[in-house]
Amino acid sequence: MSDEIKIQLTTTPGNKPDSSNLSFGKYFTDHMFIMDYHTEKGWHDPRIVPYAPIALDPAAMVFHYGQAVFEGLKAYMTDSGKVLLFRPDKNMERLNRSNDRLGIPEVDGEFVIQAIKTLIEIDKSWIPTEKGTSLYVRPFIIATEPCLGVRSSYTYQLIVILSPVGAYYSGGLEPVKINVESSYTRAVRGGIGYAKAAGNYAASIKAQENAKKEGFSQVLWLDAIEKKYIEEVGSMNIFFKIAGTVITPEINGSILEGVTRDSVITLLKDWGVPVEERKLSIEEIYEAYKQGQLEEVFGTGTAAVISPVGELHWNEHTMAINDKKIGELSQKLYDTITGLQAGQLPDTRNWTITF
Ligand code: COI
Repeated sequence: MSDEIKIQLTTTPGNKPDSSNLSFGKYFTDHMFIMDYHTEKGWHDPRIVPYAPIALDPAAMVFHYGQAVFEGLKAYMTDSGKVLLFRPDKNMERLNRSNDRLGIPEVDGEFVIQAIKTLIEIDKSWIPTEKGTSLYVRPFIIATEPCLGVRSSYTYQLIVILSPVGAYYSGGLEPVKINVESSYTRAVRGGIGYAKAAGNYAASIKAQENAKKEGFSQVLWLDAIEKKYIEEVGSMNIFFKIAGTVITPEINGSILEGVTRDSVITLLKDWGVPVEERKLSIEEIYEAYKQGQLEEVFGTGTAAVISPVGELHWNEHTMAINDKKIGELSQKLYDTITGLQAGQLPDTRNWTITF
């Protein structure tokens, strides 16, 4: 895919939101990137156009059979006025894994990163600079062919939109309350759990809504078969520090392979903190809690960054973690990741690109 990106600029730039009150995913910049796919032409016609609603045929396959995948990454403004992207190559690798699972054609990751850079350059003035804010980049692909037969679509659109965001949880770094979900299932091995597919999020919404009514921020998913082993939180991967060792569920086919998850594991190994990727049951966590060994729990994700968990509920058990305060290690990980993302810490691992 080497077509030139055509650019049509808006004549009516929008008003920028107050960057001290952004929350997550509510505002969108002036432009978006679109590229089409047709089985006979491949990916073609890459273009940047004014942000606007898109017209789709009501029979477009995405509406009926849910062939839709997405990614999430963030752009940051450094102190020297450069734009920084954090590990966008990992997002492209994952996008193509999701594409493969959903029967969507592969994209040229390098070309999409180039398109994202061009789009951000145009809407650069939308990047918020307050601490804890960034420009969230949301690439997504949808099946656009009008057809009610169940098969993979012959046509798709890849669209990238940009959203200035603050913290994902309204409380910022305030530890969140999470409920272990005992009835519903997010994903099962052999399904699409490891793909960043819209359907996985649809499957999570009912449990999420029920948990919200009970005062929880999120649910913690258990494995679908035994309802025993920890999977993920849905908007983030999860880590437990038990007696000095950090444990996170291994990648098993139903968990999303988070970019922040991978970054955290790498940092912990570099710091000499024992870290294990393995099966971890909710009973093991409760036992550790009873013995005073459950030291920290935190979620990781692009949107959530590092999100400390202050309370974990499992059936009738309530586990209050680290006095419901952010733990030392969670704070160090947060400071290091956000420091790298702001371009304030040296990038010794080639994780960032600036332009
Ligand atoms: C992300 O962390 O980028 C996500 O996609 C999580 C959520 C907002 C869906």
